[in-house]
Amino acid sequence: MTSNKKLLNWVNEVAALCQPDSIYWCDGSEAEFTKMAELLVEKGTFRKLNASKRSNSYYAVSDPDDVARVEDRTFICSENPEDAGPTNNWKDPKEMKELLNGLFKGCMKGRTMYVIPFSMGPLGSKIAHIGVELTDSPYVVCNMRIMTRIGKKVLDVLGDGNFVPCLHSVGFPLADGKADVTWPCSKTKYIVHFPAERSIWSYGSGYGGNALLGKKCFALRIASIMAKEEGWLAEHMLIVGVTNPKGEKKYIAAAFPSACGKTNLAMLTSALPGWKVETVGDDIAWMKFGEDGRLYAINPENGFFGVAPGTSMKTNPNAMLSMTKNSIFTNVALTDDGDVWWEGMTDEKPKNLTSWKKQAWTPESTENSAHPNSRFTTPAEQCPVIDPAWQDPRGVPISAILFGGRRSNFVPLVYESYNWQHGVFIGAVVSSETTAAAKGEVGKLRHDPFAMLPFCGYNMGDYFKHWVNIGKNAPNPEMLPKIFSVNWFRKDEEGKFIWPGYGENIRVLSWIFDRLNNENNFMTTPIGLEPIPNSLNIDGLNISKENFEKLFYIDKEEGLKEISETLEYFSLFGKNIPSELYQELEAIQTRFETTD
Ligand code: GTP
Ligand code: SPV
Ligand code: MN
Repeated sequence: MTSNKKLLNWVNEVAALCQPDSIYWCDGSEAEFTKMAELLVEKGTFRKLNASKRSNSYYAVSDPDDVARVEDRTFICSENPEDAGPTNNWKDPKEMKELLNGLFKGCMKGRTMYVIPFSMGPLGSKIAHIGVELTDSPYVVCNMRIMTRIGKKVLDVLGDGNFVPCLHSVGFPLADGKADVTWPCSKTKYIVHFPAERSIWSYGSGYGGNALLGKKCFALRIASIMAKEEGWLAEHMLIVGVTNPKGEKKYIAAAFPSACGKTNLAMLTSALPGWKVETVGDDIAWMKFGEDGRLYAINPENGFFGVAPGTSMKTNPNAMLSMTKNSIFTNVALTDDGDVWWEGMTDEKPKNLTSWKKQAWTPESTENSAHPNSRFTTPAEQCPVIDPAWQDPRGVPISAILFGGRRSNFVPLVYESYNWQHGVFIGAVVSSETTAAAKGEVGKLRHDPFAMLPFCGYNMGDYFKHWVNIGKNAPNPEMLPKIFSVNWFRKDEEGKFIWPGYGENIRVLSWIFDRLNNENNFMTTPIGLEPIPNSLNIDGLNISKENFEKLFYIDKEEGLKEISETLEYFSLFGKNIPSELYQELEAIQTRFETTD
């Protein structure tokens, strides 16, 4: 299997602490997945979907209280609290270890502990990194096999090398004959990161980013720390290849907060003839400078863990076509013929469903049939528009970076930064209305800089500085990606989205594409470069001139209000905020004051 001493010792140590009945090393084979899925069917966690509708696919519903990431239970346990910064929960690492050792003691009694060696990124890529997750959840094993590259081939690449230890337990021991439940979890939840040892301990949840530790815990929180130390970037970004009608291709990365449109943009079906979008990744990007001085990105993941509601053949046909087989569905509704459904999948609602809460559901029901954060887990290779270079170990060269949020007002449909430093400012001031991806109130405007608020493993002020430095130390500043802001979510007075979004977003991408070719299609405004009239193609769109103007309207008073609010936000970070961001703030204020 492996002779890696660190790994063998750690597995033994954890087994002694958690006291599982047995230990199983995952080989990552198809047969293993099938065996594990059958076990889950037996336990009642999985239900096999109708194979004539969706082959080799499974359905699960979670405990109604274990449905999303738990940000208030997420901790960065750096030695010094200042290194976690004002936006993270912090606890002394020694105290936290003591607490966790208490919780994990005997927590796997009556269960099997699975050892999952996994690679974030194509095996052998210089940008990739290896982790090992120890978990008592076979549901996690099945999801990890889709979301990452797992098993024997990873141990082969690991050899005697280093890995990120990721310990996970659902926190539901089966001691003294206690009966199991279909979704074991605990009311007590801890999602904990130890930057000094680059390790992760997760307790009490079986869902999503709380439990699939390669994703947010490793690929963002721990990797962001590695990236800062080593001069690269670990970001909450999708990656797409965009080809124009002349056949010219460019890669674009985009950071939007959770449930704000990354998967949709990553698989966009162009509403403009001749334009094509291909998917490299839909959630996370790791970026490093190449020898030619360009920034190269890989998608460290191997699958998509996508928001189900709102996904349809109209909004995202490529996602729908990806999940026709070999997929797992969690917290969606079940149809009478053994398939899945969720709000927005079809115009006509099925007459009868079993809701995610296992209740009979009809169109008259007042509650949603699927949880708003219900998700599909599906292999990336099944995406019909997966990019030919999506597994290229060198990554793909990034020409543009987009920042966006869910903003009903103020933020225009699209604008460009004046330069890298101004682009960093744009990333730093992203605010967005909260969504169901995290537990808590939905629709509340909050700062979510770089869409990384819940995912930055260190002081966010230092993170801003790191981004400023990436620009300053770039091997070739001319080759740096251009930075843009986008907002698909501006609303009219009646509260309706003004912009049609989805496939029509290609219109914005095409304007951006032309800017990357240095086309003179912009005008300056206080906040950045906006499209000049008629440079953004809206032919054939059912949008009034008045509404179109609303998408770009910048109110001076609102702008000045945003500035003073940003000043207040920056002050939260004290001396950690780079002075460059204050310079940008001042520059914007001056531009506002000198234009009417
Ligand atoms: P995470 O996986 O949580 O990181 O989410 P994400 O950023 O990948 O978001 P996703 O693409 O899954 O979209 C989330 C929700 O936003 C879905 O309900 C979509 O239907 C909706 N959405 C996506 N793109 C658009 C758009 O262009 N316009 C509008 N109005 N809604 C959109
Ligand atoms: C997000 O919340 O940004 C997600 C889902 O992509 S989860 O994997 O649960 O973090
Ligand atoms: Mn995400």
